Amino acid sequence: MRRKVIAGNWKMNMLPNEAISFIEQFTPLVKDTKNEVILCVPYIDLFYSLLTAQNTNIKIGAQNMHWEEKGAYTGEVSGQMLKAIGVEYVIIGHSERRQYFAETDETVNKKTKAALSNGLNPIICVGETLEQRENGTAEEVITKQTKLALEGISKEQMENVILAYEPIWAIGTGKTATSEDANNSIKAIRNKVEELYGKETADEIIILYGGSVKAENAKELFSTTDIDGGLVGGASLKVDEFSKIVSA
Ligand code: 13P
Repeated sequence: MRRKVIAGNWKMNMLPNEAISFIEQFTPLVKDTKNEVILCVPYIDLFYSLLTAQNTNIKIGAQNMHWEEKGAYTGEVSGQMLKAIGVEYVIIGHSERRQYFAETDETVNKKTKAALSNGLNPIICVGETLEQRENGTAEEVITKQTKLALEGISKEQMENVILAYEPIWAIGTGKTATSEDANNSIKAIRNKVEELYGKETADEIIILYGGSVKAENAKELFSTTDIDGGLVGGASLKVDEFSKIVSA
């Protein structure tokens, strides 16, 4: 049986003192969960979050990284740097990065490779726009993004990869995909993984849903056959709400 994973993506929110206070309040609320709990925080919060989450079941992730180890890339942070301070996860190819920061399938693939070679677990995001959904190409788009992100990744490395299906039209809009639609899209991604790596990998890989996940819709989404948890934006900024999602 696949484990359930609930990851928060704080995006560009939370100052260090807010991050510390969030984790202090959140820890007792999720300490007994069997689900894996991850908080993906802004770079400046990473170190404080790692210290505050020490000896808890909360894992800390970053929201992006550069594919090179080091060098003249002003403003960038490498996988090696994240690993050095104890980060375990990193979101790669979030639609906001694809949309506003010119990330492409190619850079997503480079970052995925660099994350894995540095011992980080990438959470790779794929998802279609509203236009693609309406013109019937959603499945083609997300399976293609999946294939390109994973180019050159071995079957063994796939054990450390998490995928996240985030339809762009559902992010921050309050519009959630129906659990049936989300489950079908995730099934299509799982089938693509099976085509590339075989049934065993497809059965094992964790695929999350993201896009307006809230306490009130989490249970329905997470009890489908193929959705293994959530990548949660807005609702992960509130201690109570997010802890309810973790226990859904
Ligand atoms: P919301 O949960 O705010 O819709 O954001 C989803 C998301 O982008 C998580 O990565």
